[in-house]
Amino acid sequence: MAPTTWLWTSRAGFERDLADELPRGRVLAPALAASDAPRPGAEPPTFGRQGFPIAAEVKPTVEALAAAVTALVPPTPAAFALQIWVPDSDAANRLSARATELVEGVTANLGARERLVGAHELADPDDPIVQVCLADDARAYVGALPRSRTISTWPGGRARMKVPSGAPSRATSKIAEALSWIGYGPESGDVCVDLGAAPGGWTWLLLRRKARVIAVDRANLQPDIARDRKVMHLRDNAFTFRPDEPVDWLFCDMVWKPMEVARLLAEWGKRHWARYLVSNIKLPMKKRLATVGEVKRTLMLGGWRDVRMRQLYHDRDEITLHARR
Ligand SMILES: C[S@@+](CC[C@H](N)C(=O)[O-])C[C@H]1O[C@@H](n2cnc3c(N)ncnc32)[C@H](O)[C@@H]1O
Repeated sequence: MAPTTWLWTSRAGFERDLADELPRGRVLAPALAASDAPRPGAEPPTFGRQGFPIAAEVKPTVEALAAAVTALVPPTPAAFALQIWVPDSDAANRLSARATELVEGVTANLGARERLVGAHELADPDDPIVQVCLADDARAYVGALPRSRTISTWPGGRARMKVPSGAPSRATSKIAEALSWIGYGPESGDVCVDLGAAPGGWTWLLLRRKARVIAVDRANLQPDIARDRKVMHLRDNAFTFRPDEPVDWLFCDMVWKPMEVARLLAEWGKRHWARYLVSNIKLPMKKRLATVGEVKRTLMLGGWRDVRMRQLYHDRDEITLHARR
């Protein structure tokens, strides 16, 4: 039997970086790559928003897709989810409306639709998400993975975070997505340091979780955030700032050279100044994958454990990392 090929999607422009992370990875189109099966238990690729083993490649008609999806429906009584998505590239995004129509058409033609639920509602981690990637007008890839092995429960990994009005929007979406990816975050009373905090989107979300925040930035915070009595705004340089005592969480979103930020975070690790770390790392134009690897090694040398890195949906030329001490 031929080995299974996997299909992957990334942010457009990062498909080469994604392919380079994967076994025999190759670029198929903007935002789309293919590879051999990943090693069992391997961390998901940093630049992979979503990935699945290709069970079928079909013409994107309702009939062909309904047949390919039906073949992947799990035996009764398991529930399953169905997602039809397009890669996040200019060309493929034009097919978004078609993908929505196909969801309706394919669902109406599925035998087991009483067991179909939203991916966020799958209770059993073994229940599958059946995925269809509508690559272009003529090609769709179909596959399925248990929910627990799927990189993201959002179609194509596009985790669209809604943030209430009043919060600085993109920055708040970034941290909301980061905490959703990690699966936990600061709790009531936790002390957080937020390096590069202005105008205050991350701090705003941490306050909503009832944490206390030491916000370090020479720039101004949004006035309502600065006024919050749980915020201490220090107009310091993050590279010389030292906490008076260890804190629970270190957050960092500075626009600065990745390796200098990594060395600062490693220093926090070495000195046990924080237990948990969430940081955004801005990527250089070239050698992005090499930088990702070097950042990870630097953090591990600083004593940070379980270092995980992902380019999340709200990340542009950047990645998000999480680690524990
Ligand atoms: C992308 S913004 C941060 C956005 C913020 N996370 C939010 O949610 O609103 C980057 C910030 O890093 C700050 N910054 C850059 N270098 C810094 C340094 N050495 N020390 C402290 N802040 C720094 C900038 O002043 C800027 O406000």
